[in-house]
Amino acid sequence: MAFPDAVTDDWHMVALAKDIRGSTVRKVMLCNTPIALFRSASGIAALIDRCPHRNYPLSEGRVENGTLSCPYHGWRFAADGRCVEVPGCPSAALPQAKLAAQPMRVVERAGAVFVNLSDAAPDEPNLPPDFDNPELDHFWWQQGTWQGRAFDAIENVMDPFHTGHLHHGFIRRRDRRLPVRLVVTSHGDGIEMAIEQDAPDLGLMSRFLERDRQRSISRYYPPTIVQARWEGHTGLTLCVTAIFTPATDGSFTPFARFSTRRGFAPGWLKQAAIRLFLAPVVAQDRKALARQHATMALFGNPRFVEGPGDILGNRLQRLWSGQHVPPGADEGVTAEL
Ligand code: FES
Ligand SMILES: [Fe+2]
Repeated sequence: MAFPDAVTDDWHMVALAKDIRGSTVRKVMLCNTPIALFRSASGIAALIDRCPHRNYPLSEGRVENGTLSCPYHGWRFAADGRCVEVPGCPSAALPQAKLAAQPMRVVERAGAVFVNLSDAAPDEPNLPPDFDNPELDHFWWQQGTWQGRAFDAIENVMDPFHTGHLHHGFIRRRDRRLPVRLVVTSHGDGIEMAIEQDAPDLGLMSRFLERDRQRSISRYYPPTIVQARWEGHTGLTLCVTAIFTPATDGSFTPFARFSTRRGFAPGWLKQAAIRLFLAPVVAQDRKALARQHATMALFGNPRFVEGPGDILGNRLQRLWSGQHVPPGADEGVTAEL
């Protein structure tokens, strides 16, 4: 397994709760492990996607009376993995220890489904601030599974220097960079980068969506969550919580939760505007991560050089691996973004 224990042992978002419904089973990948998600009488259930009988994938089965029925011989499994029926055989004497499927802990929070592969995980997923703040408008965004490593996607969103270049015109402009001050603060179990600037970015997105800007802060909550917050003179204008769930060694499933202040515009309008401007930016990042991953695969490994803009150094990698970083603020760095 190519993932650090800190990653495999934690809770991971694998789906939106609204997508788990009816008689269909949803297959998701988490850290190279396939999982079958379905809706049982007691809520969403998660089983390792392997029938204990002859290893048929359970995710290809159907939900019957809140239990999951395997397509091969029709064994039925409850949310806790218990085998409740072996068709053609008396159900009274089913030896559970032998016949049960492998269940996983699953919780539903703010419309998201979290599971974990390990008993080492805490009782609840750790969620960042405002994730379910009832005073904000929220909406979810998802776009399938992407090629690339989850870690590289985390680095991508924590890296402001690509925004004017790769996303020229949408977020910032490569031909009209603005002076900024970057301040990195380590929190021991996480790290944040604040970008302080006097004017909003010159890309389309800011010009349409932001009225004012003082600073934006991106904070990494290991192992898989990055929350970016934009603040103007009047307070929080936009908060994006991005979650990068490792699917396999070379793919990940991103989810993002957008949270905005009530009142400025109706929720549906903000959602439509954000989706419109986000689509090209997301496509650019998706392509960059896939191209980067293809190159690393061709050469057999990543081999990265730290440039002058890579002011987080190896701290993201250390946090991803479950290590702590020394707390405290770095000296501010001036740059043009
Ligand atoms: S393989 Fe699933 S019931 Fe036989
Ligand atoms: Fe990007």
